Amino acid sequence: MSQSSVARRSAFQEPPVALEDDAARRVRFFDYHPTQADVREEVLQGLEQCPKRLPPKLFYDQHGSRLFDAITELPEYYPTRTEIAILREHGPEMADRLGRENVLIELGSGSSLKIQTLLAVLEPAVYVPVDISKEHLLESAHALAARFPKLSIRAACADYSGPFRLPLEPGWSRLAAFFPGSSIGNFDPPDARRLLERVAAVLGPGGKLLIGVDLRKDTQILNAAYNDAQGVTADFNLNLLTRINRELGADFDLDAYAHKAFFDDRKGRIEMHLVSLADQVVRVAGQTIRFGRGETIHTESSYKYAIADFQGLARDAGYTSEQVWTDPGELFSVHCLRVNA
Ligand code: AVI
Repeated sequence: MSQSSVARRSAFQEPPVALEDDAARRVRFFDYHPTQADVREEVLQGLEQCPKRLPPKLFYDQHGSRLFDAITELPEYYPTRTEIAILREHGPEMADRLGRENVLIELGSGSSLKIQTLLAVLEPAVYVPVDISKEHLLESAHALAARFPKLSIRAACADYSGPFRLPLEPGWSRLAAFFPGSSIGNFDPPDARRLLERVAAVLGPGGKLLIGVDLRKDTQILNAAYNDAQGVTADFNLNLLTRINRELGADFDLDAYAHKAFFDDRKGRIEMHLVSLADQVVRVAGQTIRFGRGETIHTESSYKYAIADFQGLARDAGYTSEQVWTDPGELFSVHCLRVNA
């Protein structure tokens, strides 16, 4: 164990009185969050389409982010614990690939659980977590600052599903990115490619991206992961309607919709839907939206890749695959990609 990790650990166990203030000073917050008008427009546009759809980023209000954290601990939901085991086992090798003392950008940082396994080995100069859920982002940024006494954090609340801003200084050149959790799987492949291209443009030639990607596997395992016995995924899906009721003055009756999730083998993706259990009319932001019985709102896709197929997508987006790590059961993969010169 290095000197610095010994110092870090003892500071964590017995925090000096001033640590809290110091931790607060090391966190800067940048709010690029979409406005309420953006949310209204996206919701109405999605509900007026046929078939109806809503973007999965809307899951992550404060309650939705907590429900997602609960999902990650479910026995059926293998991705999080499998990815963490891969990061724990291969962290030092990953750090060798990514380089240390970089400016480390994390997309979709959420509760920052995964980065904790890497921070001690990566020792970034600055950590830039990016997430759409403001309260969640701030809470985890402060917890991380208290836990890692040398870490400087620039937390950005932003929607990275389209072009996005980052709080980077012009002179910063050693950039690396971490995009865990297979959140890339929540984008249709052309959008995934565009997102990877945008990340490549931020990192610049030679920049490294460490990205978690869920793998194709037995359909039963996949279906169970998105239809858990405790119904947490169903609550997570339905919370989208609660959020729209609250933020857009809608009148969705939550008892009149049901969670549905299934793996579509041909498309290589889990689809999540909310099914209308009756013919019904809903008011959303002053507009009337009609549902037939059995009609669905497509709320999320979660693509599952073969390793070679994901590498092909990365190649098309301008990267070279440097290394891939998987678990013994080949459920999940973590890729180190280098931006082409
Ligand atoms: C965040 N994302 C990668 C999760 C997934 O597995 O696609 C979201 C999720 N939806 C239902 N369960 C988890």
